[in-house]
Amino acid sequence: MKKESGRPGRSDRASRPIANHARRARRSASAGGTPAPRIRRAVVIGSGTMGGGIAAHFANARVPVYLLDISQQIVTASLERLKKSKPPAFFTAETAELVTIGNLNDNEAWIGEGDWIIEAIVEELQPKRDLAARIDRLRKPDSIVSSNTSGLPISQIAAKPYFLGTHFFNPPRYMKLLEVIPTQDTDPKITDFVRDFAERRLGKGVVICKDTPNFIANRLASISGAMLLDFVLQHDYTIEETDAIVGPLIGRPKTAAFRLQDLVGLDVSSSVARNLYDLIPNDPAREVLRSPRVEALRKKQMDRGRLGDKTGQGFYKKGGKAIETLDLDTGEYRERREPNIPSIGEANKIKSLPERLHFVLQQDDKAGALARHVVYNSLAYAAQRIPEITDDIENVDRAMRWGFSHEMGPFELWDALGVRATAEAMKKYGVDVPAWVLKKERFYPGRAAVPAAVIGRLARSPGSSPSETLGECGRDARSPAVRQNKGASLLDIGEGVLQLEFHTKMNTLDDDVRSMIVQSVEELEKVPWVGMVIGNDGADFCVGANLDVAPAESRLYVSVKAMQDALMAIRFCSKPIVAAPFGRTLGGGAEVAMAASRIVAAAETYMGQVEVGVGLVPAAGGCKELIRRVVSPAMSQTPNADPLPLVQNVLQTIGAARVSSSAAEARELGFLTDADRIVMNRDHLMAEAKEEVLELAAHGYSAPVREKNCYAAGRDVLAALKAGIYGMQQGAYISEYDALISSKLASILCGGDLSSGQWVDEQFFLDREREVFVASCREPKTLERIQFMLANGKPLRN
Ligand code: NAI
Repeated sequence: MKKESGRPGRSDRASRPIANHARRARRSASAGGTPAPRIRRAVVIGSGTMGGGIAAHFANARVPVYLLDISQQIVTASLERLKKSKPPAFFTAETAELVTIGNLNDNEAWIGEGDWIIEAIVEELQPKRDLAARIDRLRKPDSIVSSNTSGLPISQIAAKPYFLGTHFFNPPRYMKLLEVIPTQDTDPKITDFVRDFAERRLGKGVVICKDTPNFIANRLASISGAMLLDFVLQHDYTIEETDAIVGPLIGRPKTAAFRLQDLVGLDVSSSVARNLYDLIPNDPAREVLRSPRVEALRKKQMDRGRLGDKTGQGFYKKGGKAIETLDLDTGEYRERREPNIPSIGEANKIKSLPERLHFVLQQDDKAGALARHVVYNSLAYAAQRIPEITDDIENVDRAMRWGFSHEMGPFELWDALGVRATAEAMKKYGVDVPAWVLKKERFYPGRAAVPAAVIGRLARSPGSSPSETLGECGRDARSPAVRQNKGASLLDIGEGVLQLEFHTKMNTLDDDVRSMIVQSVEELEKVPWVGMVIGNDGADFCVGANLDVAPAESRLYVSVKAMQDALMAIRFCSKPIVAAPFGRTLGGGAEVAMAASRIVAAAETYMGQVEVGVGLVPAAGGCKELIRRVVSPAMSQTPNADPLPLVQNVLQTIGAARVSSSAAEARELGFLTDADRIVMNRDHLMAEAKEEVLELAAHGYSAPVREKNCYAAGRDVLAALKAGIYGMQQGAYISEYDALISSKLASILCGGDLSSGQWVDEQFFLDREREVFVASCREPKTLERIQFMLANGKPLRN
C-alpha cells in the first residue's frame, strides 16, 4: 500500500518548535541582565563526517543552517550522503530542507548571516587558522565562532572573545558528549551561552575543558587505548579474547578495543597518536604512543589498506556471511575463534559492574591479567592528569561515559571498587598512584557507592548532579514510594505531582503494571495531588505487553478489557497526566503514552504500534487513538473530506508496524499531536514533564468529555482498503496471513460494517479492538509468531 503523504497539516506539524524554549526564554529574560544571543542561523564550514552531522543536528533543533565546503560538488555529495546515512542524521526527511548548501568561492558572504559559525575542516592547524582569519573578516559582530577539532590547541587557531573550541563526537546526533573549550580570551558569557544552548537545544551533555591536547575524553582514550594494544600484542591475546575482556565485562561498550578501532579508522587513530605525542612532551605516559609493537602492526595494516570499516577490512573483515578476524600472528584473516577463558562466562553472570569487575580483577588467567592492566592503568592515568586537564573529576567521569559509553567513569568506578584497596592493589601491580589520591577515602563522598546511572535510578542517588538526574524535577531521593508493587511504583515528586514508574524487564506491561496504573489514578484523584507524570529512568519507556505472561485463553477477554479500562482511567482522570516517553515506546507503551493528557517526549523516541509483527492488533486504544488523532480532526474540520486517505494512513502505520526514528517523526505519523512537546535533552525530560503537569493544572485542567469524538468511516472505505490489501498480497508484498490481519485491522479502523461514515464514542472502537484481538490470539499463526518473537527477539512473517 502506498503511503499517502498529503495528510493535512503535516508540514505545520513538522515545523512546530520542538522544545519548551519560549517558556524558559521568557523566564530568563524576566530575570533581567543583558539579553542572551540567539541562534537564528548557523553556518557550518566543512561538510565531511563531522560538519555534515553537526549541520544535520542543528537542523534537528530547528535552526536553519548554511553548509559550506571548498566546492559545490563536495558539499552536494555530502548532503546526499547525509540524507541516506544510517542511523539517520536527520530527525525526519523534511528536516534536511533546513540545510542550504553552498561553496566558499560563491557564497562566502553567507558567513556574515550566521549567529554561530562552526568550522569543521581538516584536522590541521594552518588551514584552521587561515579560515578563522577569513571568518573574522566576514562575520557579523554578535556572532559566535567555534572550531571543531579532536585536539588541536584552540588558542593557536584564534584568540578572540567570540571564539572557542567545540568537540562533538561522532555521530553528532547520537553521541551525548560535547566538549567545549574556551581559551583565555573567550568571553565567559559566550561559554555559558554555548553550554546552555548545547544542553537545551542540541540535547548534549557538555563538559567544559581546559585547552590541553586532545582535551579530556580523547586524551585518556588515546593513552589507555595504546597501553591496551601494547599489552595485548606483548602477551599474545587474540582479537576475540581482547574484545571479550575489555567490552561490557569491564563496563565498556560492545565495540571494546578492536571493533572500536575499525569504526574509528586506523588512519585517524594513527594521526591522533602522532599529533598527541608531539603535544605532550612532559607526559611520561606518551612513550606508549610510540610502542614499536603497536607501530609495526599499524604500519602493516595501513600498508595493506586495512583501515577498518571505511575500507571494508581492518581487524575484522566481513567475508561472505560470517565476519572473519585478523590473526595477529600470521597477519591473515581467519574464521572467528571463540575465546576459551572460563572466568569470562562466570563473570558475565554477575549483574553489578563493580562486583563483576572485582571478580575479574581477582582471576589468575588472561582475563584477570588484561583487566588489571587496563583498569589499573586507566584509573591511574586519569588521576595523574588532574589538575592538568581539568580541576573537576566529575568532568572526567562524564567525558568517558558520554563520549565513550563507559558504564562508569574512572573515578566512579574507583569509588565503587573502594579507593584505598584499589590504590593498594595498583601500587602492588607497579602502577604509580598520585599522592592526592592516597589521601582520599572516597572521590564522591555522600554519593551512593554505585552511581545511580548504573542501577538505573538516578534520582535515588543523593548527590548526583541535577543535570543528569530526575532530581531536577524535584523528586526527593529518600521519599518512600506512595504505592509500589513488583512491576511499578508510584512516587511523590513534589509540588503535588506523582510519578508512575514502570520497572519490569524492558518496562513491559503486565498485571502488576496494570494494577498500579489503576491504583495510581485512584490515588491521584485524592487531595493533595495535582497531577501525574508517567515515566522512568530505564533504557526504554516501554516495549509493550509482556508476551511471556500472556493470560490463559479463558481470561483473555477480561484481561484485555482490564487494560483498556486502566488506560481509559488515565485518559478520563480529572487531573492532568503527562506521559514522558523516550527510546523504544512500542505497542502498549505507545498506547499508555497516547492515553495521557499530554505527551512530553524525548527527541530520541522510537514509537510504533508493532502488534502485527506478532499476529495481533493494538487493543488498548492504539487503533482508537490514531483514528482520534489523525482521522477525526480532519473529518470534523472539513465535513466533506474524503476519509479514505486518512484511514489508509493509519492502516499503513499500524499494518506495516512503522516505528518512528525520532519523536519528530512520531509526530508526522500522528502519535504526537500539536499540543504534545519534544524535549531535546533526555536528562531534562522528567523535569519538563512535571512542569507540563503543573502548567496544565494551573490553567484549570479539565478531563475530556465522553462524547462521539471518533470518526468511523464505514463499509465503503473498508471495501476500498480491502481491495488495496488484496492487491498487496497478489503482488507478493505481504503474506497471506499479513493480509488477513491487515483486513481485520482495516475493519477496526472503519468501525466495522457501518453503512455510512459516522461519529462514535471511544468505547465503540475499543470494543472492536478487543474483539479482533481475542479472536487473533486463537489463530495458530499468531501463536507461531509470538513463540518466534520470544525465542528470537524479531518478528516472523509466516
Ligand atoms: P572530513 O575529512 O570528513 O571532512 C572535512 C571537510 O572539510 C571536507 O569536506 C573538506 O572538503 C573540507 N575542507 C577541508 N579543508 C577546507 C577548507 N580549507 N575550507 C573549507 N572546507 C575544507 O573530516 P571530519 O572527520 O569531518 O573532521 C572535521 C574536524 O572534526 C577535524 O578537525 C576532526 O579532527 C574533527 N573531529 C572528527 C571526528 C570524527 O570522528 N571524524 C570526531 C570529532 C572531531
